[in-house]
Amino acid sequence: MTESGLRVGVIGTGYWGSKHVRVVNGLERVASVAIIDTREDRLRPLLRSYPSARAFTSLEAALPHLDALIVATPPSTHVPLALEAIRAGKHVLVEKPLATTTAGAWQLIDEAADAGVVLMAGHTFEYNSAVWRLREIVESGELGDLFYIDSGRLNLGLYQSDVNVVWDLAPHDVSIINLLMGRRPTSVQAWGSRHAHRRFEDVAYLRLAYADLGVSANIHVSWLDPCKVRRVTVVGSKKMAVYNDLAMEEKIRIHDKGVSFPVDKEDLTQPPTSYRYGDITAPYVPAGEPLAVQDDHFVESVVTGAPCLTDGLSGLAVVEVLEAAQLSLGSGQSVPLEERDGSLSLASA
Ligand SMILES: NC(=O)c1ccc[n+]([C@@H]2O[C@H](COP(=O)([O-])OP(=O)(O)OC[C@H]3O[C@@H](n4cnc5c(N)ncnc54)[C@H](O)[C@@H]3O)[C@@H](O)[C@H]2O)c1
Repeated sequence: MTESGLRVGVIGTGYWGSKHVRVVNGLERVASVAIIDTREDRLRPLLRSYPSARAFTSLEAALPHLDALIVATPPSTHVPLALEAIRAGKHVLVEKPLATTTAGAWQLIDEAADAGVVLMAGHTFEYNSAVWRLREIVESGELGDLFYIDSGRLNLGLYQSDVNVVWDLAPHDVSIINLLMGRRPTSVQAWGSRHAHRRFEDVAYLRLAYADLGVSANIHVSWLDPCKVRRVTVVGSKKMAVYNDLAMEEKIRIHDKGVSFPVDKEDLTQPPTSYRYGDITAPYVPAGEPLAVQDDHFVESVVTGAPCLTDGLSGLAVVEVLEAAQLSLGSGQSVPLEERDGSLSLASA
């Protein structure tokens, strides 16, 4: 780190990496930004927008000029590139998913700890104020006992070249739901199908069981849907909350709706006795770009040594679910997750 701040590199300057470049370039404690991509046609337009940035076509050439690296290349390259940086003593922020295997995620965690560098997973939605507001609502008990969570992330595209739709889109839902539940799920089941892609599933459904809480979460992810959907619904015994990330305002709406159980709960033939339709309220959600909050949090962790919210273990928790979902896609069976400390570190962002 120089006196004027951190020297940060972004490797992978495609769709998402170019957003990191914009965000990091504006951060106060960043002294310089390096852009790294094997494709020069990706670097050239960025150099026009950020003429002070240094550009490299290999990580090896860039590393001596960096204190920290953001990895925004395709998922299958995350572990080798992050390891190269960690072994050179650099702090790393790795885009979601942290790795494409749990073994890879563990290797990153172990080597980052040995090297004494920060390892952070780019779970952008955990830096989204609407997700934190939803977590407060769930924790407050306003919704009553949780029944289930339903999450949809659908659109036409963008097809990825090295992973299926589960590894591409579900990391967001899994990280959001793990944050809401404050823990990892106990088992995962998944169904998927291939339509416009020969090798990779482009439509999938996941069911995550949080058996100790008696809650299940259903996730629908798709690259092949006519409607863009980014929605999480949390249904409780008293109220129901809907977080619609596409809404310009009122991203969260709390519906005072529900059903009353029959008096005799043992009699399974009885339908609910009554339906309740009450007000819809929209709690205040502060504005702010989640990616900027996330990258600033990374810089804060590097500069101050403070633990980061989405550390390697949080990245691993998501990878474990994705790996289990991948197994389940093949077997059709529910896959239990191995027991380890199920709680996640949930310091405030
Ligand atoms: N957090 C989020 O909300 C979010 C959103 C979109 C994408 N992502 C993640 O960002 C990453 C990139 O996704 P994308 O959609 O921008 O992909 P992309 O294909 O648009 O860009 C990837 C870039 O990486 C470069 N690249 C590949 N291998 C390289 C290597 N070994 N060295 C240097 N450069 C290399 C490619 O040339 C390309 O420019 C993925 O991990 C994806 O999951 C995260």
